Amino acid sequence: MVRNPKGMRDILPPETFKWRRLEILLSKVALLYGYGEIRTPILEFGELFRKGLGDESDVALKEMYEFVDKNGDVLSLRPEGTAPVARAVIQHHLYDVPVLRLFYTGPMFRRERPQAGRYRQFHQFGIEAFGVSEPYMDVEVLLVVKRIFDLLGLPLTIHINSLGCDECRPPYIEQLRNFVVESIPDDEEIERFKKNPLKLFDSKRPEHAQVKSDAPKILEYLCPTCRDHYAEVIKAARTFAIPIVEDPHLARGFDYYTRTVFEGYVGELNLAVVGGGRYDHLVSFYGGPDIPGIGFAIGLERLITSMQEVPKVDPEPKVSYFLATTGQDMIEPAFWLAESLRDHNAEVIMDLRQGKLQKQLKLADKVDARYALILGEEEQKNHAVTLRDMVTGEQRVIAQEAVLGE
Ligand code: HAM
Repeated sequence: MVRNPKGMRDILPPETFKWRRLEILLSKVALLYGYGEIRTPILEFGELFRKGLGDESDVALKEMYEFVDKNGDVLSLRPEGTAPVARAVIQHHLYDVPVLRLFYTGPMFRRERPQAGRYRQFHQFGIEAFGVSEPYMDVEVLLVVKRIFDLLGLPLTIHINSLGCDECRPPYIEQLRNFVVESIPDDEEIERFKKNPLKLFDSKRPEHAQVKSDAPKILEYLCPTCRDHYAEVIKAARTFAIPIVEDPHLARGFDYYTRTVFEGYVGELNLAVVGGGRYDHLVSFYGGPDIPGIGFAIGLERLITSMQEVPKVDPEPKVSYFLATTGQDMIEPAFWLAESLRDHNAEVIMDLRQGKLQKQLKLADKVDARYALILGEEEQKNHAVTLRDMVTGEQRVIAQEAVLGE
C-alpha cells in the first residue's frame, strides 16, 4: 500500500475548515498592525540556514532535509521562516521602507522524531518586523501574540528573557562554559555543552536540574543598554497585561537571536506553541544593511489541537490609519489608542523609532497611508486626536471616541 512519509500528515475535511478559518484570523490580526504578506519558496540554498541558524544548532546539524540538486546546488526544505524572509528583504531592497512589517504562513520541515505535537512537516504563521530597535517594537510584537490568543480564547503564558548583545553575551557564555565544565562530569554531553553552553538549559536530564538552577544568569551580565532595553520591555508588557513570566533559562535554539527572546505555552501543553525574539544582526550577517529585526512563529498544529472551534472574523480591517506621536512619553497613550482602534477593526501602523513628527509622517507617505492620526500632549489631555488627510493635507482635531466610531 502507498502511504505518506512518517511525520507528514494529510489534513482532511472537516479539519481543513478549522485550518481555513484559523489562517484568516491570523492574517487578519497581522493586517491590523500593518503587516504585509510575504511568500518565499519552500526550497532555499542549505547554506542560508546553516549560516543563519548556526552550524551547531540542532536544526542545522540534524534536522534539515537537504539534497544535492541535479546541477550540484545544495538545497534545503525550509525548517523555519525568519532566514528566508531576511534573505528576501535584502534581495528585493525591501528595507527602503525604514519600518518594514511582514507576515507569512506555510509548511516548514524538520527531520525530528515524530510524536504528539512534533511533526516533520508542520505549519507556521509568523511575523517579522525590521528597522526598529526600540523596546516598544518588542511590545507591539508581543501584543500581536496576545491578540491572537485572546481571539482564540486560549490561556497563554509567555516566557521571556534577554540574550544580550555582541558586547555582553560572549563574557557571559565564557562564564557559563567554565561553570558547566566544573559542574558536569565528563560524558558525551559535555562536548556539546562546551561548544554551546546555552544548551544546558534545554537539557531534560533530571541530574542537570540542580546544575541549571545554580548556573550563572545572563541578566546579571547584561550591558547597561541591554539591561535598560529588557527593563523597558518588561515594564511595558506588564502595563499592557501581556501574560509574561521572566525565565532566565530561556535560550532558544538559533544563533541569530539577540536581546529579547520569548516562548509561549498554552494550558497544560508542555511544548511551546510560539517562539520568537530579536535578531538585530541577521540582516547585516547575510550581507545586507545594519538593520534590526524581531518576530515570532506559531506552530499551527499545536495551536489547532488545543481548540474546539475557530471563531469567524472579517478578513480585512475596516479602515487604515497611520498613528504618529509628538512629545515625550506619548508612546504609551498612543499604544492604548492604537489597541482600542484595532479592537474596533481598524488597521493602525506606527513608526516606533521615536523620532520627530516629520520623520514619522515621511513613513506615513512611504506606506501610502490615507489618514494619519497625531497624538500629542495637548490632544491627549482633551481625549482628542488630530486627524490628517494625507492627500489634501487638511487636518482637524476630533474626539478619540469619534475616531473609534468612525
Ligand atoms: P521555533 O521555536 O523553532 O522558532 O518554532 C516556532 C514554533 O513552531 C514552535 O513554537 C512550535 O509551535 C512550532 N514547531 C517547531 N518545530 C515543530 C515540529 N517539529 N512540529 C510541530 N511544530 C513545530 C522559529 O522557527 C523562529 N523562526 C521563530 C522566529 C520568528 N523568531 C524570530 N522570528
